Amino acid sequence: MKKILVTGGTGFIGSHTVVELQQHGYEVVIVDDLSNSSVEVLDQIRKITGIRPAFEQFDLVDRERTADFFARHEQLSGIIHFAAFKAAGESMEKPLEYYRNNVVSLLNILDGMKMHGIRDIVFSSSCTVYGQPDQLPVTEDAPFKTAWSPYGNTKQICEDILRFNTLLLPIRVIALRYFNPIGAHDSALIGELPLGVPNNLVPFITQTAIGKRECLSVFGNDYDTPDGTAIRDYIHVVDLARAHVVAVERMIQGNCLHNLEVFNLGTGIGFTVMEVIQSFERVSGVKLNYRIAPRRAGDVEKVWADTRLANETLGWKAVHSLDEMMLSAWNWEKALAKGVG
Ligand code: WQD
Repeated sequence: MKKILVTGGTGFIGSHTVVELQQHGYEVVIVDDLSNSSVEVLDQIRKITGIRPAFEQFDLVDRERTADFFARHEQLSGIIHFAAFKAAGESMEKPLEYYRNNVVSLLNILDGMKMHGIRDIVFSSSCTVYGQPDQLPVTEDAPFKTAWSPYGNTKQICEDILRFNTLLLPIRVIALRYFNPIGAHDSALIGELPLGVPNNLVPFITQTAIGKRECLSVFGNDYDTPDGTAIRDYIHVVDLARAHVVAVERMIQGNCLHNLEVFNLGTGIGFTVMEVIQSFERVSGVKLNYRIAPRRAGDVEKVWADTRLANETLGWKAVHSLDEMMLSAWNWEKALAKGVG
């Protein structure tokens, strides 16, 4: 059985990807420092798949601990690297933590790959590398714009590190640029577990609707969009997770066309904040309490993906609708209120 290292595997996208990997016959070992997730996720994964993934808790910024891990896991068929801090807004307040965590952890992983001859890595990247694109939908060959946050800059830096290392090391990289991952597994056993006040729109919506938050602030309605609120390309986390299994299989089967391949993972459809709110109200039957607030620093106005490369080259396509995404997020919030997760 092929074994895959999933760093950040108790996190939101990581846990959903572990489920898909196990259901596709892969053995998984998770490394996570639990700084932004909880260890209970392992039991939730077992309830879904019947298999509790192997797990080691340590910080990948710790060079010795990471080297020790790789020395004990030489038979890895590949790595999916999720572990990173990921809130653009927060990175504006803690830039040094973001650069140290997101960049040094990747360097330590590359050391491990080099030392033990591990060839394949899937890297969790982000549409934030594009900044505000000049053209929409945005394609993979759009230039990196000046990052709007240290978080987005760490993703640009990491992609550059990987690009140069594919020239020097016998490694292959697939960088997946996520747009806006939302929703939760249909079982409502795993989902987005924001610790503290959510930075992201959808958990803030569901927490407001369930009564954990008083009111949603809509950050700006004076953008150049149909209803004045900002546009994003929201993608169901399970669609996103499935793309990672496709990417791992592509590498293991030796089907990569280049040593570094980059794919946008979105739906290709942009929705405004108001359309997301309307979708939520439609599927939940709950009238959402929200107010219009000033724009948030670091937000781009509108971004959505050109998904043709992933659709045609990976043979992967997102299939969930916005309503399905919002209903899954709402079911997850209700499960949390009952004490799941
Ligand atoms: C979406 C829209 C906000 C909260 C983030 C990460 C990014 C990527 C995707 C990983 C924006 C508006 C939000 C609120 C609001 N993650 N909003 N009220 O900022 O597009 O990107 O997730 O790769 O790296 O930064 O997502 O959910 O924060 O915001 O009006 O309380 O909702 O202004 O227009 P974002 P988001």
